[in-house]
This record gives sequence, structure tokens and C-alpha cells, in this order.
Amino acid sequence: VDVSDRDATPGTAPEVRLRKTERRDIPWMVEMTCDEELVGSFNWPGERRDRAEVAADLEQRFAADRLAGRQTGRLVAELTDGTPIGDVSWRTDKWGPSERSRCYSIGIALLPPFRGRGYGVTAQRLLIDHLFERDPELNRVQADTAIDNYAEQKALARAGMTEEGVVRGAEFRAGAFHDHVLFGIVRAEWEAGRGRP
Ligand SMILES: CC(C)(COP(=O)(O)OP(=O)(O)OC[C@H]1O[C@@H](n2cnc3c(N)ncnc32)[C@H](O)[C@@H]1OP(=O)(O)O)[C@@H](O)C(=O)NCCC(=O)NCCS
Repeated sequence: VDVSDRDATPGTAPEVRLRKTERRDIPWMVEMTCDEELVGSFNWPGERRDRAEVAADLEQRFAADRLAGRQTGRLVAELTDGTPIGDVSWRTDKWGPSERSRCYSIGIALLPPFRGRGYGVTAQRLLIDHLFERDPELNRVQADTAIDNYAEQKALARAGMTEEGVVRGAEFRAGAFHDHVLFGIVRAEWEAGRGRP
């Protein structure tokens, strides 16, 4: 995949859209999982993963639901000229036993050339819109990120999320536990246009 800098000009309005995964995305998704440099320190678990295994897993999930299931899934973020810049993802979490206590936790990983240009805000905002729109019963979308991942914290706040607190010892990564900051947006805020450009 071309991960060159074209059309990623700082200062211009980020023209990003989300789409379902295509089979041609699988090779760069494998690299985004297995190449420590591409993954970056906040998403690198600390252990190498086998490329063939990761590819087989992605192929299997692609065949099942194009990696966009109801419980968990991901969409590709791309520039409007079709250049993939990374992906956004969701998983279902629940704050209580009732069905309506479920929410989505979202995540994002941009390829290195497309970080630091504001695309992360737009891509996450589009995902928040998509999740609320497709599920009228959904009341909450949340995200958490490492306490020292300032770029993601700023991006989440700009995408309309409120910082809600610190979750201590949350993530085991690279041999140690890390605190995370929890962010969330509820339906009433989303309907009021919070974070919408
Ligand atoms: C985190 C990520 C999604 C943010 O998206 P992005 O498009 O790069 O973010 P932005 O360009 O909007 O930058 C957000 C802000 O953080 C700031 N920032 C970036 N790196 C920073 C750092 N190390 N310290 C402080 N602020 C930082 C930027 O300057 C910007 O603020 P400003 O506009 O006031 O200058 C993206 O960088 C990424 O995919 N990183 C790798 C994977 C990752 O960390 N994912 C999240 C894991 S939970």
C-alpha cells in the first residue's frame, strides 16, 4: 500500500471517510499489527506476532463479516482519493446486565505518515456518528487511551468526547501495567451536535 505523504498536507481540512475493509487492505493491516515501528509504542504489546498467523486470522474474519461485526469490528479510514490512512475499530462493552447498558469502546490506529494532521479527530468522529446512527438504542460510545497518549486524548476531546476519569492499572503492555484515561459521549450530547464540525 502507498503510505506516502501525498494529500496529507498539514493545515488543510482533513478529507477523510470510512469504508468497509477490502481484501487488498489485509497486507497493510498485517504490517500495522506486526511491524513495531508502524504500530507505535502505544499499541505495541511488547511481543512479536507471526505475520502468517495474523494474516490468516484477518482472512478468516474478512470472510465472515468483512471485519465489521456487530460486537466487534473495524472500518478503514481513507483519504477521499482512496489512500488508506489506517483504521478505526469498536468492541462492545457493558456497564450492567440489562441489554441497554451496552456501549461501544472505540479505537484507532493511523499509519505513521498520516499522524499529527488532524485526521484522527475526523475519523473517530465519523465512527461515533456511524455507531449512533446505525443503532438507535445505543446511549454511549467510549474510548480509553494511555495516560501519556496526549495526541489521542486531544483527538478524542475534539471529536466530542468528555474526559471522565483515570482507570488505574488498566492495560498490560510492554511488560508493565499502564493507567488509562476514559472518555465518553452519550446520545443526548451527540444529538445536540457536540464535537460536530
Ligand atoms: C493517536 C492518533 C489517533 C491521533 O490522531 P492524529 O490525527 O495524529 O491527531 P492530531 O493530528 O489531531 O493531533 C492531536 C493533538 O495532539 C498533539 N500531539 C501529538 N503528539 C503529541 C505529544 N507527543 N504530546 C503532546 N501533544 C501531542 C498534536 O499537536 C495535536 O494538538 P494541537 O492540534 O493542539 O497541536 C494518531 O496519532 C495515531 O493513530 N497514533 C498511533 C496509534 C495510537 O496511539 N492510537 C490510539 C491508541 S488508544
